[in-house]
Amino acid sequence: MIETESTIEILLHSAIEAFHARFNRPPTMAAAAPGRVNLMGEHTDYNQGYVLPIAIAHWSVVVGDITPPQHPNSIWYSLDLGEEYEIDLAQKLKPIDHEWVNYPLGIFEEFRAHQIELPNIDFVLTSSIPIGGGLSSSAALNMSLATLFEQAVGIALDPARKARWCQRAEHEFPKVPCGIMDPMISALAVEGHALMIDCAVNETKLVPMPSPDQAVLLIANTNVKHQLASSEYTQRKEECAQALKIIQVDFRADVNSLRDVTAADLKSLRDLMDPTLFRRTMHVVNENLRVIQSVQALMANDLEQFGKYMFASHLSLRDDYEVSCRELDTLVELASEFSPAITDHDGGVYGARMTGGGFGGCAIVLCKPENASAITEHLIAGHRAIYDRAPTIFSTQAQGGAFAIDLSQE
Ligand code: GLA
Repeated sequence: MIETESTIEILLHSAIEAFHARFNRPPTMAAAAPGRVNLMGEHTDYNQGYVLPIAIAHWSVVVGDITPPQHPNSIWYSLDLGEEYEIDLAQKLKPIDHEWVNYPLGIFEEFRAHQIELPNIDFVLTSSIPIGGGLSSSAALNMSLATLFEQAVGIALDPARKARWCQRAEHEFPKVPCGIMDPMISALAVEGHALMIDCAVNETKLVPMPSPDQAVLLIANTNVKHQLASSEYTQRKEECAQALKIIQVDFRADVNSLRDVTAADLKSLRDLMDPTLFRRTMHVVNENLRVIQSVQALMANDLEQFGKYMFASHLSLRDDYEVSCRELDTLVELASEFSPAITDHDGGVYGARMTGGGFGGCAIVLCKPENASAITEHLIAGHRAIYDRAPTIFSTQAQGGAFAIDLSQE
C-alpha cells in the first residue's frame, strides 16, 4: 500500500542515460536536492517566524557538462516533460513564457549578479517530487541547479547564502513569491533530523527525529491543487502586512514583524483590527509558539504531545488562517479517527495536519510503524468514498540536503 521511496540512484541512472542519448557524450557533473515537508510552522516564514521542516526521500537530480566550444548554444532538457530548450547564454537573461526554463534562467542570472561567470552548460534534469503537490519541487529544482553550477565553477557557497540566491531567483524569474523555508531545508537538511529555522535571522537548529521503529511519517497527497492557491498565498502575505501596519501604528511601534507579537498581546489587538486580520495574526502567533513547543516535545521524545500540536496546527490553518481545503480536512479527520488523543480508538496515530502552502497538496500523519498500513488503507478508503479517487500515500525518513555527485565512479 505504501509507495516505496524513490532513490537518487534510479533518477541519476535515467538522467545519465538521457544525457548520453541526447548529447552523445557522458555528463561530467551531477547534483541532487531533496523536496520537503514541514512538520510545524506554516505561513510563518514570511512573517519572520519559526518553521520545522524535514527533507524527504524525493529528489530533483540534474546531470550536465560544459557545452563544447564549437556549439554556440546550450541545450537544457527536462526528462520528465520530454522538452528541451536551446539557449544562447551570452545574451542578457530575462524571464520567458516557458515555465520550467525560468528556473535555470533565474539561477544562472543569480550567479552572474554575484559576479560569478558561469560557462555554457548542457544539462538534463529529472525529479521524483510530484509537481504541484506542495512538496517543494521547485525549490529542490533550483537547489539542484545551483549545486551543479557551483561544481561547474569549482566553488562551494555557504548553504544559507545559496538558499537566499535560490529564493531570489524564484521571485525574479518564475515570479513565485515563495518564502525562505523551502530552499533552506533543501540546502541544510541533515539525515535523521528536522531543522528548526528562525526565519528572522536564518539561524538553524537540528532536532533529532524519532527512530524509525518508534514513528513513521506518512505523506498523503490529495493530488489536488486548487486554482486560488497562489492568489490566496499572496493575499495572506498582504493581510499579514496590513495587520503589522495596524499593530505598529496603534499598538507598539517597535514590533518589526508578526513574530514579535506575543500571545499576551493578542487580547489588546482584538479590537484594533477587523476579525479576519485578527484571526490571521492569531494563527501566526500561536503557530510560532507551537514550533517552539513542538521542538521541546521532539527533544523530550514526547510524540503524543507533538501529535497534539499537529492537530492544533491543522485547526488553526483551517479556521484562522483559512488555507486548508475539503480534501486535506478529510485526510486529517480520517487520521484523527485513529488517534487515542481524539477518540477512544488507539489506532496508532500521534497527529496529523496539512503541510505547505495549502489549498491542496499534502497532509502528513505521524504514526506508529506497526499501524502504518492500516492507517494508509483507512485514509485511502475514506478519501475515495467521498471524492471517488485515492490520495497517493508514501512514507519518508528525514534526508540530508543538496549535494554534488561524483560521476567518476559511474
Ligand atoms: C509555501 C512557501 C513556503 C511557506 C509555505 C507555508 O510552501 O513556498 O515558503 O510560506 O508555503 O508555510
